[in-house]
Amino acid sequence: MSKVILVTGAASGMGLATAKLLLEKGGRVAMCDINQSGLQQVISTLETEQRSRAFPQVVDVRDPTAVRDSLEKAKSYFGTLDGIANFAGTGGHGLGTEAIWETSVEEYDFILNLNVKGLFNILKESLRPGFLAPGASVVHIGSIFSLQGFKNGAVFAASKHAALGMVRSAAKETGDRVRVNCILPGVIDTPMHRANLARVKGFTPTAPTPIPRMGSAEEVAEVTVFLLSDESSFVTGVAWNVDGGANA
Ligand SMILES: NC(=O)c1ccc[n+]([C@@H]2O[C@H](COP(=O)([O-])OP(=O)(O)OC[C@H]3O[C@@H](n4cnc5c(N)ncnc54)[C@H](O)[C@@H]3O)[C@@H](O)[C@H]2O)c1
Repeated sequence: MSKVILVTGAASGMGLATAKLLLEKGGRVAMCDINQSGLQQVISTLETEQRSRAFPQVVDVRDPTAVRDSLEKAKSYFGTLDGIANFAGTGGHGLGTEAIWETSVEEYDFILNLNVKGLFNILKESLRPGFLAPGASVVHIGSIFSLQGFKNGAVFAASKHAALGMVRSAAKETGDRVRVNCILPGVIDTPMHRANLARVKGFTPTAPTPIPRMGSAEEVAEVTVFLLSDESSFVTGVAWNVDGGANA
């Protein structure tokens, strides 16, 4: 898939797995992350030919100016931009431990700014008519908690519901100009999930799922790349579960 894709959250977890899969398939990838050292480390491990098709950028998706600059720079570096995969996100600092009445306003702002305003910043800039290449595709990473409540994770669940509403609305606005879809991962084995497990004893946000194991970042990457590709040309506005059946 020789497309040019901008991936946020590309230094870790599902964003990294997606950037790597795109590079393996011959794509050119703007790899964006707030974590400069993590990004440098990841770039240094790429095989030379793949590294030549990667364009690393340190970006905070919460900052509208930084997002605009990053999109413009990626487009001018590669000459075009065929799609975006937005993995930059957070579960917050107290996921699984704080009831809504225990959640601070600062925590609310942190989660909403990253999970909702970050997406808004990206869609606002990239969906302007003429910015992305014809037939472009944007994929956002929601959560199974885009569709259900999360005990001791109300603000996280609210942010993921909001993002799904934004994705579905954007899909209606862009029509056949840009496809816009949302992936809803279940429990995926990434540094974010491992940090939750280390912080909260017995962190089990979902009941036993029909496929009774965690998913891998690579399994999410495969679906993301499909939604970015022309193989999914009639797919837009979807909430696509990659969750072992958790939302069945
Ligand atoms: N891991 C799971 O079980 C799971 C389940 C459902 C949804 N999700 C969602 O998937 C997305 C990716 O999660 P992951 O598990 O791969 O996490 P991760 O922590 O492994 O990777 C997230 C990446 O986003 C980057 N990032 C954080 N804030 C940023 C910012 N302001 N600007 C740019 N980059 C930023 C981090 O530096 C990190 O490299 C998140 O939105 C998360 O909420 C994760």
